[in-house]
Amino acid sequence: MSENILGSKYPIIQTAMGWVATPELVAASSKAGAFGFLALATATKDEAINMIKKTSALTDMPFGINLHMFQPGAEEIIDAAIKMNVRAVSYSRSPVQKFIKKLKASNVICIPTVGALKHAIKAEELGADALVVQGSEGGGHTGSTPTTLLLGSVLNCVNIPVYAAGGFKDGSGLAAAKAWGAVGIAMGTRFMMTEESPVPKKTKEAYLNATTEDIKITRKFDGLPHRLIFNDFIKKVDNSNPISLFLMSLKSALKYKKMSEASYFDILKSFLAMLKGDDLTISQTIMSANSPAIIQTAMVDGMPANGAMPSGTVAGVIDDLPTCENLINVIISQYNMKIKQMELENAN
Ligand SMILES: Cc1cc2nc3c(=O)[nH]c(=O)nc-3n(C[C@H](O)[C@H](O)[C@H](O)COP(=O)(O)O)c2cc1C
Repeated sequence: MSENILGSKYPIIQTAMGWVATPELVAASSKAGAFGFLALATATKDEAINMIKKTSALTDMPFGINLHMFQPGAEEIIDAAIKMNVRAVSYSRSPVQKFIKKLKASNVICIPTVGALKHAIKAEELGADALVVQGSEGGGHTGSTPTTLLLGSVLNCVNIPVYAAGGFKDGSGLAAAKAWGAVGIAMGTRFMMTEESPVPKKTKEAYLNATTEDIKITRKFDGLPHRLIFNDFIKKVDNSNPISLFLMSLKSALKYKKMSEASYFDILKSFLAMLKGDDLTISQTIMSANSPAIIQTAMVDGMPANGAMPSGTVAGVIDDLPTCENLINVIISQYNMKIKQMELENAN
């Protein structure tokens, strides 16, 4: 399967990242020839609808949205996306068949992100038009199988286009993904480390300074395997016992409520939906409620030492902050050079 059904100039996806994949970043990456996804899983219903409107006003290029199908207001966001001709919808945990059917009936591309073979098979059964397959190197919530192993096994088992994610940053990666049989690549961390990314300077510096050894997975932050930069705060969380974790999580609970318009009932509803699919302890469940505020501390407020920084391992080998246009142009010229080089080697 080699069709870039998203309709972008290049088969490169800028993935959704909470508080990072804003209308401005999505417009910049889409204008540069990639396909951008707006991060709406961290927005309220009204914020999400306004973000879609704003992106449509900033670019004529196609773009997508990412949300949790269990989040408060999901159906209204989906209806608004259909109305505003959003090209694609990305989701991961707890997909809702009714919403997938509705989207497909309106010709919106359903493209979930999966991190395990069984989830890829299930996603295709539920009607996905394409997949983003993310290996464990990927930033944010992630699985345990490396990209190099997961990609091949998924490609052997599904019949829909696959975009490879987890550890991509350049044209060699694009060439490798295509050699595997993927349509293209999807990148989060690389787009977060661009000029147009809204992440404050101090936090971008923390990403530039991180080494691959600093970027690891912990389950203790929000109960799910989450790849983050291990700053002192996350090291403390990762080393915590159940009681200290519980106390740490309670400490920021109040802050979260202040920052969110969601009611306690809505938060509880989201928890219950998560609990259905994932085995969270009580401390981890509370930590999960606080995790948005802790991530915001780094990604929005610019205080990297006190917050959490979701990151792909790839941040450890990235040392620049190009514009999206520069980034895409370099990736495409590296890709073209790689292909030429391989053709020459084959001819000899
Ligand atoms: C800062 C950050 C925030 C993220 N937030 C989200 C999110 O809100 N929703 C989502 O589906 N994935 C999220 N992710 C995962 C990315 O969309 C993407 O799948 C991942 O970064 C790909 O791996 P890479 O970082 O190696 O490119 C996030 C990743 C990062 C680095």
